[in-house]
Amino acid sequence: MKLIDGRLLAKTIKEEIAVEVAQLISEGNRRPHLAAVLVGADPASRVYVRNKTRSCEQVGFDSSLINKDEHTTEEELLKIVADLNADEGIDGFIVQLPLPKHIDTDRIILAIDPSKDVDGFHPNNFGKMAQGMPSFLPATPFGIVTMLDRYNIDVAGKNCVVLGRSNIVGTPISILLSRKADPGNATVTLCHSRTKHLEEYTKKADIIVIALGRPNFLKADMIKEGAVVIDVGINRIEDASTKSGSKLVGDADFNDIAEKCSYITPVPGGVGPMTVTSLLMNTLQAFKAKI
Ligand code: GUN
Repeated sequence: MKLIDGRLLAKTIKEEIAVEVAQLISEGNRRPHLAAVLVGADPASRVYVRNKTRSCEQVGFDSSLINKDEHTTEEELLKIVADLNADEGIDGFIVQLPLPKHIDTDRIILAIDPSKDVDGFHPNNFGKMAQGMPSFLPATPFGIVTMLDRYNIDVAGKNCVVLGRSNIVGTPISILLSRKADPGNATVTLCHSRTKHLEEYTKKADIIVIALGRPNFLKADMIKEGAVVIDVGINRIEDASTKSGSKLVGDADFNDIAEKCSYITPVPGGVGPMTVTSLLMNTLQAFKAKI
C-alpha cells in the first residue's frame, strides 16, 4: 500500500506557485489577489477560509476575507458579488458554501463573473469543463486529478466508481475522469443514495472516489485487492482516546482497507490540502489571463 500524501504534494505545488509569483513580480506585475466571502459562522467553513487565507500568504498572493453575519440578505450578498466582479484588483473570489438557508445559492453562483469564478461553480465554467474546453476546474476534483497525475496512477481504461453526486465533487469528478484527456479516459460509474447493491460496483472498481459524508463507510469487503481509494470525506466523530474527545475520519475505514489498497489518501492530509492548492492554481490562471 502506498499513501498519497496530499499535504506533501500541496506543499510542493505551493512552492512551484511561489516561484512563478516571484518571477511575475520581478517582471513588474502586482500580486495575484484572491478574495473569499464567508456568510455566517459555520465552524468548518471558518477553518476552510482560514486555510485559504494562510495558503495565499505562503505563495505570495494578496487575499481578502469578507465576513458577514448569518442574517445577511440575498440582495446584500449579490451586491458584494457585483462589487467583487467590478473590482479590477481582485483576480478571483469564492463564496464559501454552504450559505444560510434563506439565500438562494444558485442565484449567487450565477451572479459571479465566470472569469473570476476560481471555484469553477458557475455553469459557464462547469459546462466548458464538461465539453473539454479550457475552464476553471472545481477545486476538489482538480485536486484529485492532480494527485492521480503526480503519482503516475494510470486512469485510462480503468473502472472508476464515484460514490456521491454532489455538484462540488461527485458529478464533476465523474466528468473529469471520463473525459478524453490525461488523466481521464476511464470508464466511470456514478453511484448515489438510490444505487442498489453498491458493493457490486465497488468490488469491481480499480479506482474509487468516495464523497458521501458518511464516516468509515467503505470497508475492506467492499473493494478489490489493489484498488486505488480517494477519500474526500471529512467527518468529525467522537473519540474518547483523544484530548479533544473527537477526531477527523474519512468516508473510507482507513484501518480496515489500507492493506488491500494499492494507493490510498489519508484523512486528514489527503484530498483536503489539495483543494486549497487547486484554488491557488486557478487564481494564478485568472491572474495570468488578465496581465
Ligand atoms: N464548501 C465546501 N467545499 C467548498 C469549495 O470547494 N468551495 C466553496 N466555495 N465552498 C465549499
